[in-house]
Amino acid sequence: MSVSQLVRQLDLRNKDALDKVFAKQKFDAVIHFAGLKAVGESVHKPLIYFDNNLIGTIILFQVMAAHGCKKLVFSSSATVYGWPKEVPCTEEFPLKTTNPYGRTKLIIEEMCRDLHGSDSDWKIILLRYFNPVGAHPSGFIGEDPRGIPNNLMPFVQQVAVGRLPALTVFGNDYKTCDGTGVRDFIHVVDLADGHIAALRKLDDPKIGCEVYNLGTGKGTSVLEMVKAFEKASGKKIPLSMGDRRPGDAEIVYASTNKAEKELNWKAKHDIHDMCRDQWNWASKNPYGYGKSGDSSK
Ligand code: UFG
Repeated sequence: MSVSQLVRQLDLRNKDALDKVFAKQKFDAVIHFAGLKAVGESVHKPLIYFDNNLIGTIILFQVMAAHGCKKLVFSSSATVYGWPKEVPCTEEFPLKTTNPYGRTKLIIEEMCRDLHGSDSDWKIILLRYFNPVGAHPSGFIGEDPRGIPNNLMPFVQQVAVGRLPALTVFGNDYKTCDGTGVRDFIHVVDLADGHIAALRKLDDPKIGCEVYNLGTGKGTSVLEMVKAFEKASGKKIPLSMGDRRPGDAEIVYASTNKAEKELNWKAKHDIHDMCRDQWNWASKNPYGYGKSGDSSK
């Protein structure tokens, strides 16, 4: 079986299987994306999150160390800023999370700092993602969540293709331009480029364990985002105003100075590009990777 086949079927918690992959192929570095990511689910099922995200990561690090692969890029999240006291969020802000999912990100960040502290051969970059949206411009690769989407743009997309009747806006009494929450939406292609920049940075002999925000530095409200998607798709998104979602922050957006200066990376795409590419994916694949109406994937 090829390495890519092995990897596709692999659960990081299966140490023997992971070990076989590293024995078969020498890796220069690892980008660690694997993890459960639904905030609400993590509140109800924390042990699944601790097991999958934390145990999986510990085993990955053990196997990497055993094979002498000590370069890592890790997908962290802006969730580690909690409800920030001010914006933009800089990498030096105090860290705090409000749910088990966020806790796993924070614990893994701390694990990485300890790992580097114990052995300076470890070169680690922690990337704090803000709100990734959009799709690959080809229309062949996009987000396809199982069940009812938790996140704004996958939900809007499913309303646009007629799979869901209306979007509930979680709170319109925030102190923002139109009362709705403000986030830093970033095109997935810019996010992917941020990982390439991080991999390059790992070759810098001075790098230890560093953290970078991946965002655009711009805040966009929920209603502004919905309007941009309506424009891109030509579809009306019916709205209903709901209560605030527990745990949601009011305004979160990134300071991008550190990534621009040290990674030589800057997001290129605006919310109109994000909505255009997401609609291209959605209109070509209204049921994601599955067949029409198949919700069992
Ligand atoms: N929202 C709605 N209706 C919905 C879904 C979301 O109004 O149906 C609003 C939210 O209240 C929030 C905004 O849209 O104001 C963005 O919500 P998302 O769920 O899309 O994103 P979050 O900012 O809550 O969460 C994202 C990631 C998490 C990560 C977090 C860090 O999805 O994984 O950012 O801040 F933890």
